[in-house]
Amino acid sequence: MVLRTVEWKDNSVVMIDQTKLPNTLEYVTYTDYNQVADAIRNLVIRGAPAIGVSGAFGLALAALQSNATEKEELISYLENAKKILFETRPTAVNLAWGLDKIMQVANKATNADEIRNNVVEYAKKMAEEDIQINMTMGKNGSKLFNDNDTIMTHCNAGALATVGYGTALGVIRATKDSGKNVKVIVTETRPVQQGSRLTAFELKHDGIDVILIPDTAVGYTMANGLVNKIIVGADRILRTGHVYNKIGTYQIAIMAKQHDISFYVAAPLSTFDMKSNPEDIIIEQRKASEVTGIGDKKTAPDGIDVINPAFDLTPPELISGIITENGIAKPPFEKSIRQLFPAN
Ligand code: MRU
Repeated sequence: MVLRTVEWKDNSVVMIDQTKLPNTLEYVTYTDYNQVADAIRNLVIRGAPAIGVSGAFGLALAALQSNATEKEELISYLENAKKILFETRPTAVNLAWGLDKIMQVANKATNADEIRNNVVEYAKKMAEEDIQINMTMGKNGSKLFNDNDTIMTHCNAGALATVGYGTALGVIRATKDSGKNVKVIVTETRPVQQGSRLTAFELKHDGIDVILIPDTAVGYTMANGLVNKIIVGADRILRTGHVYNKIGTYQIAIMAKQHDISFYVAAPLSTFDMKSNPEDIIIEQRKASEVTGIGDKKTAPDGIDVINPAFDLTPPELISGIITENGIAKPPFEKSIRQLFPAN
């Protein structure tokens, strides 16, 4: 069975609780947008496209929760819910994208009932489109990979980071479905272990060959010729081709350059931020306890100072190509990224 990360069911939001993986595949059901906000904040759901759609579902719940009878009153309730949902995680641009789309739909409606109906329908449509976009992206990207490639990935950019199918792992799935035999090497992705807990889980679940390595073995695997290509997802891509993704992506890209290994990024157009510059981007800093222990076990002395950024920036000169549903952008990125957007 293909994993479906988040879904709208009977006026509630159902999602896989990713904090429980890989030990149990458990679903949680929410009827309050504050619960969805907590779920995003606490990584019950994570991954840029998944939190984009979850934000949209959260706003749809808010529309149903409000008792407002007038359009203006409901819009102001939604604006407040949007703020709470938006502040959960600052780096992945898909969250703002999902929330803005729903507010546009709400503002266009003529009365409160129409808002409720339209935002629910639109959020459901966004979820379905996410899967279709990933499948198209997968097909586009599969042309870059060959039979018997061993592909390294970092973090989880799979079905669990999206509504289904995945971005980077979607490309791997499509490559496999096109008849090519591929193997995946996944980094454990300290400190939250999205690689070992989530990517290893979902690839094993789907019967795709996967080998787990510690983050510290990236250089070793490259130097020993164990990796042919690399593919990762993204939380935000600027018009210049600067890519924000899970902490550790930058050092993998540098090592790939040293070993002459192609480094690809796969992301939908909703992950592009065409307005901001690197100095505008907030890198989420997470709690020290993620680094000072593993589960309940302490692995660092009490009171130690910690820096725990969730994301880093990989500059365009380290990137071989950016795979999207509208094609593959190649360097120089300013021009090729602009060409991905239909209006330009
Ligand atoms: O902190 P997370 O788990 O939300 O970080 C996720 C990532 O960095 C993914 O690589 C990114 O969102 C792309 S997901 C298709």
